[in-house]
Amino acid sequence: MARLNFQDWMAIESPKVEKALDESLAFVPLPCRAIAAHILKAGGKRLRPLLVVAFARALDYDRDDVYPLATSLEMLHAATLLHDDILDRAGSRRGQPAAHTLFGEAKTILTGDALLAAGNSVTASYDSPSLCDCYARATALTAAGEILEMDSLGNPEQTRDTYMEIAMNKTAALIANACVMGATLAGASPAQTAAAERYGENVGLAFQIVDDALDFAPQSQTGKPCGGDLREGKLTPPIRLFRDSLDPGSRDRFDASFRTGNFDPEYFSGLIKEIGRFVPAALAIAKDRVRLALDALSGLPDADEKQILKQIADYVVARCK
Ligand code: IPE
Ligand code: IPE
Ligand code: MG
Ligand code: MG
Repeated sequence: MARLNFQDWMAIESPKVEKALDESLAFVPLPCRAIAAHILKAGGKRLRPLLVVAFARALDYDRDDVYPLATSLEMLHAATLLHDDILDRAGSRRGQPAAHTLFGEAKTILTGDALLAAGNSVTASYDSPSLCDCYARATALTAAGEILEMDSLGNPEQTRDTYMEIAMNKTAALIANACVMGATLAGASPAQTAAAERYGENVGLAFQIVDDALDFAPQSQTGKPCGGDLREGKLTPPIRLFRDSLDPGSRDRFDASFRTGNFDPEYFSGLIKEIGRFVPAALAIAKDRVRLALDALSGLPDADEKQILKQIADYVVARCK
């Protein structure tokens, strides 16, 4: 049997996810809808809903009610992006002005809350405490991750373990719960659910590390400003690897700017180039996580969508090229 490839699968599944997402917008109250539509219609890779679909299908679930469930996590994701751009003082998102720059912070925060609740309503309509628990845990852990990150902003001595703990909470928990939701809907065994979680956590960590590497790519490629993490004081893998390579004098200069976020413009553009040289080493860390994600799939039945899950894991790193 010819194997389904990722592009063909996306061409079939993406329109179904988009249609369901349009329908889910009805769960967002009218006063919040313009802001919700601003973020949801600006594009986005739809990674989280696609993972819900891929996992459910990989475990032989063939019903179409997987699509609305999948959209709940895109609404949760969109809410975290609205909030995150306020926390990070980011000016653009998905190639568009960030919502708070157009609509103001207060309305953007409240629309984020309404989106969280709308995703919750969609999930609750499945009458499954396990699915509601996935949704709740993804929401709570993402918030926890953002707080952990704030606690170490501007700390040039943040450890690698702390970075991983932050990434696990703020990004990987949501991605892992997308996989677990798909598996749960399909009636997965405990071992399959554990595999879904392990796959999702490792894909999620790889995804955040790649996102942090892409911070040094031009805005035209990412839709987000270049060097934002450096300015915001986040010690991401390429920045940490660069700092580790410095002699004590250069490190003191770097640390002084990193702690305060005050970078002389010429020094800043030099740093962007220098740190860019550590992107391949950071990507090697992401690739290790992709390998762990692929290992986690080994016990799953040999369905077409298992190949898709493998390709999604590979794509997470390949999108950097
Ligand atoms: C951005 O997520 C936030 C991170 C977790 C790094 P995505 O890169 O999935 O954003 P969209 O949905 O494609 O815009
Ligand atoms: C992503 O954090 C995690 C959340 C949105 C909760 P980042 O701040 O690293 O993501 P980008 O780079 O703004 O997309
Ligand atoms: Mg952030
Ligand atoms: Mg951000």
